[in-house]
Amino acid sequence: MASNDGLNFTVNRLILGDNLEILKTFADESVDFIYLDPPFFSNRNYEVIWGDAGEIRSFQDRWAGGISHYIEWLKERVIEMHRVLKSTGSIFLHCDWHADAYIRVFILDAIFGEKNFRNHIIWKRNFTKKGSQFKMSRLAQNTDSIFFYSKTNNYYFITPKTKNINEEELFKIYNKIDENGKKFKSEPIELPRMMARKNLVFEYKGYTPEFGWMMTKEKLDELDRSNKIFFTKNGKPRRKNFLDDYEGNEVDNQWLDILPIGQNQSEIIGYPTQKPEALLERIIKAASNEGDIVLDPFVGGGTAIAVADRLNRLWIGIDQSPMAVKVSEFRLQKQTDLFH
Ligand SMILES: C[S@@+](CC[C@H](N)C(=O)[O-])C[C@H]1O[C@@H](n2cnc3c(N)ncnc32)[C@H](O)[C@@H]1O
Repeated sequence: MASNDGLNFTVNRLILGDNLEILKTFADESVDFIYLDPPFFSNRNYEVIWGDAGEIRSFQDRWAGGISHYIEWLKERVIEMHRVLKSTGSIFLHCDWHADAYIRVFILDAIFGEKNFRNHIIWKRNFTKKGSQFKMSRLAQNTDSIFFYSKTNNYYFITPKTKNINEEELFKIYNKIDENGKKFKSEPIELPRMMARKNLVFEYKGYTPEFGWMMTKEKLDELDRSNKIFFTKNGKPRRKNFLDDYEGNEVDNQWLDILPIGQNQSEIIGYPTQKPEALLERIIKAASNEGDIVLDPFVGGGTAIAVADRLNRLWIGIDQSPMAVKVSEFRLQKQTDLFH
């Protein structure tokens, strides 16, 4: 447990209680990033997860007045989250089709402002359900929604990359092999007419491009030293982009490559709405830095804080269920033993 003066709370700590009451004790602008996966407005049996007294009571409260009651319940909590978030911070709210439209419009747009909406991420969380399984004619609901809002226009974010791409597809792109047997794709190195730059028209390796090189002489030298320039049979210079240097493709808002937790995975803790660590890893790496404070006010089985800890972030987790806090504590303990 580490202490952070001036924050009104201690970091690397799990707190048992209703997040509304707990958050009210936090100082303004004290956390860098928030991930929340609140219980959904879905069916009754599913939602009571641990089944302890506090959880059942709060669940019944939320259900009493239908969707508008649920939205009011969540909204007052998100107001507190907005207050405790630093101006450079952002929030990722994880939900599903039952309430996502209401949450986006009535909670996030209302509190963070439409202008701070960044993405509606679609995560494919199920690969097996079929629409034909349902009595009613409709398509299977196999995705979750994750809403990304920043507090202001000036926020931390690094676009994630993925290498989860079909190898065959990759080989179609990196379809050339050089004299050392290395796979590469061939890319232009001279400017097209519409982008002509007089100052980049010069002779290099006996070739002078009509509209200029795409880079300076120093950069060309650099490429040449690492064997990244070649000439085609027609005597045209091209650039080699090696498969070995491939860092992955930029991730867009459709996340089809993060699988749900299967039965046999070691991370499974027997919690029905537990999220995969790979999902949280992508989110936390994109929206926070090492040393930042990550808050999960609906911590459940502790996925977000376990990942935050492993990624050298500070963290704070809240849950009103004693069982959830115990399970998260146990998970972190196990992980700490493993990593330290
Ligand atoms: C969907 S689960 C979170 C699952 C988590 N993301 C994971 O991967 O394990 C929601 C959690 O919110 C907790 N919860 C519900 N209402 C709460 C409240 N008012 N304050 C704090 N926690 C609450 C529940 O006890 C439950 O553990």
